Amino acid sequence: MPQLSLKEIIERIDEAKSRFASSLERINDLEQLRELESDVLSKKGTLALLNRQLGSLDLESRQAAGAVINQARAEMRSDFERVESGLLVNARAAELESEKLDISEMVEDWTFQAGRIHLITATRHELEDIFVGMGFTVEEGPEVETEWHNFEALNIPPYHPARAGQDSFYLKFGAPESMLLRTHTSPVQIRVMMRQKPPIYAVVPGRVYRRDTADARHTPAFHQIEGLVVDKGISFANLAGTIEEFTKAIFGPNIVARLRPGYFPFTEPSAEFEVTCSICGGTGCRTCSGTGWIELGGCGMVDPNVFMAVGLDPEEWSGFAFGFGIDRLAQMRYSISDMRVLLDNDVRFLRQF
Ligand code: PHE
Repeated sequence: MPQLSLKEIIERIDEAKSRFASSLERINDLEQLRELESDVLSKKGTLALLNRQLGSLDLESRQAAGAVINQARAEMRSDFERVESGLLVNARAAELESEKLDISEMVEDWTFQAGRIHLITATRHELEDIFVGMGFTVEEGPEVETEWHNFEALNIPPYHPARAGQDSFYLKFGAPESMLLRTHTSPVQIRVMMRQKPPIYAVVPGRVYRRDTADARHTPAFHQIEGLVVDKGISFANLAGTIEEFTKAIFGPNIVARLRPGYFPFTEPSAEFEVTCSICGGTGCRTCSGTGWIELGGCGMVDPNVFMAVGLDPEEWSGFAFGFGIDRLAQMRYSISDMRVLLDNDVRFLRQF
């Protein structure tokens, strides 16, 4: 570059300033702005080159020119920063807009995404409502039980087959075979009678466990609802009436229920509670093993030994108890030929209810 006079240098600075100002005006993105910054303001930019020319000037002119360059640089910097901050704000706004997630967006077929209460839970709620309507309270008990509550207090002797290891899930906790996953909801009868005085009108829904191989009617974890009534002068007629009432409420007129003599160590007399198999309508099929009937559970009058185990006088108090499978009940009510689908969690099945 040829030697420049002070005047020429000052002209160049003015020129650079006005070019910079008009470029700034046209710029509309950050990339162009960075380019302009490097062309004009960087160490290799126009101003730096002009600065290098000062060496050939005398001291006074050099100082004057230097001051003009510094002044110009400061002004250009500040214009640059004003434009830069405007562009940064716009860029951030565009970025936010592009990342925006509309969580209120409506999908055409919204039923597709709606959740459901599982059929078993819904059936349990319905049962609770029916029994609450009949004057019962809803109670709970633990799924991990002592052998005493699950068997002993219920008059189930040590040699009873239900206590054998092949039927129950025993836990490695405490003395051997002293703790297990409850095999029925009946131990909660014991707990309720020990924590409250009669009269008792209680139902207890809950999960129970048995070492059954899963098939059309069985799963190793299932649900029962226990009923317990303890009062003065309770008879088998009260039991039969309660069961009939409940059967009508849950099944309507299309399913017939029957009681037939049975045996449970904790009730005497005892009965088994069966309903017409809804898969075949009673003619016999694979689900009911050809019998036309499905057993929902058992019931009977509370055995005096059970009253004595919890410190109630069997001369003073009488009562009845029942225990039904909630899964079986839902299975019959909706004619589900294989119970295992209740546990598959296939939404195509679950969505139907
Ligand atoms: N606990 C019994 C069972 O699981 C059912 C039952 C409950 C029978 C109450 C009589 C009285 O098979």
